[in-house]
Amino acid sequence: MTAVPALLVENLSVEFRTRSGTVQALERVSFAVPKGETLAIVGESGSGKSVTAYAVMGILDPAGKITAGRAMLGGLDLLAATADQVAAVRGREIAMIFQNPRTALNPIRTVGSQIADVLIRHANVPRREAPGRAVDLLRDVGITDPARRAKAYPFEMSGGMCQRVMIAIALAAKPSVLIADEPTTGLDVTTQAVIMDLIGDLARDIGMATIFITHDLALAAQRADRIVVMHAGHVIENAPTAELFARPRHPYTAELIAATPDAAASLAELASIPGSLPDLRRIDLPPCRYAERCPRRRVDCDAELPPAPAIPEHVVACRNPLS
Ligand SMILES: Nc1ncnc2c1ncn2[C@@H]1O[C@H](COP(=O)(O)OP(=O)(O)OP(=O)(O)O)[C@@H](O)[C@H]1O
Ligand SMILES: [Mg+2]
Repeated sequence: MTAVPALLVENLSVEFRTRSGTVQALERVSFAVPKGETLAIVGESGSGKSVTAYAVMGILDPAGKITAGRAMLGGLDLLAATADQVAAVRGREIAMIFQNPRTALNPIRTVGSQIADVLIRHANVPRREAPGRAVDLLRDVGITDPARRAKAYPFEMSGGMCQRVMIAIALAAKPSVLIADEPTTGLDVTTQAVIMDLIGDLARDIGMATIFITHDLALAAQRADRIVVMHAGHVIENAPTAELFARPRHPYTAELIAATPDAAASLAELASIPGSLPDLRRIDLPPCRYAERCPRRRVDCDAELPPAPAIPEHVVACRNPLS
């Protein structure tokens, strides 16, 4: 790993105050992604993948509160920065592709003009060149007849096509960090591969660091240099991809890998892992949030674990890991 990561997240804790109690959504989440590399964040639904991304991007739901941590983008701590500082880098230096592209797009403007806006604002493209460049970008993300499509509104496009538009918008300014939250959900397998190749190619060209959030451990294995496994708001393991699959150390990771028989498997469907995520509103959440489902649980598992560092070779948050 290079000395200065493109993005370093350290000890990020987030809670949501709700009427039914405080949700301990993230606790001391740490990871780093170097320039040009892809880091996958995998975990079951509700494990905290999107909240991590939203916190870093400064777009958490108002009920959410960052209670600790930092997110270093180069020299800037995004969590301590002013709104103006964050606005200056968001879209330009760090961009995000969302899980629900349709809701992220402006419904009352054509997709071409939305892309052109980003080019003008964040990529220093002259106003008169922006519409043409927007069409080029639509072509780059695999949209056929891009000149016509540029004039379309989001509601006139399929979900898959909206997703491609989101990708074009996110990549328009060639950011140094891209967070892609389930970027290929809802796309067929062939298009999925095209989009992932596209993101991968651009990442390589411009040395972009990519954080790829997914349920799909098999897809993460194909695309990521390193994998962070989350469970109930904790990072429970973080290792280079080949290493994680060859020698998973956390019992939960081992279960996930065992339950991922082929490329079609998705964590959403992994019924074979016993138990479910604990209710994150509980006031008696155990230090290891996997302990209650863990076949390797010991008495000392109920003691506090030291926080997992952001830049490990292979970190495992477990008192009784597999060797
Ligand atoms: N606005 C909110 N208010 C209360 N709790 C929230 C809110 N947003 C997220 N949470 C909680 O935070 C936890 C993490 O949610 P998050 O959306 O990050 O999961 P995820 O890993 O992205 O899941 P998925 O794979 O379904 O997208 C969950 O327990 C969720 O219920
Ligand atoms: Mg999510």
